[in-house]
Amino acid sequence: MEADEIIRILNQDFIREIEATLIYVRNAFIIQKCDPGRVTEAIAVDEMRHMNWLAELIVKRGGKPSMEHKELDFGGDDLYGQLKKQVALETETIEIYKQQIESIDDAEVVGVLKHILDEEKRHRKEFRTRLDKISR
Ligand SMILES: [Fe+2]
Ligand SMILES: [Fe+2]
Repeated sequence: MEADEIIRILNQDFIREIEATLIYVRNAFIIQKCDPGRVTEAIAVDEMRHMNWLAELIVKRGGKPSMEHKELDFGGDDLYGQLKKQVALETETIEIYKQQIESIDDAEVVGVLKHILDEEKRHRKEFRTRLDKISR
């Protein structure tokens, strides 16, 4: 895999982490219930750390982190919709990282992606636990 291709993939990951950070920060303010709000805020901080790790990999390979995120979908204004959206975001991210770990032949990148993947799995579990507690 060419360095340019790795930079391109890492930039897509970086943008996904920006989007997760922004969505979780916003939702943490909106969510009225203490526990899910606190968890969402803490996970937003994790997502920002992921941004930092990816940006380091990008810059080290001669690239520049891209800041061009798409329009954000927060999952609506109620807790159920927001948690559902957050679980879906984590699932999407988990699948993408798994696939990248299989296909990228750069040991340093794969090491970082594996670490991030473990955290995304934990995030999904945290959001799922809160979602399951809401009766509809
Ligand atoms: Fe992340
Ligand atoms: Fe996450």
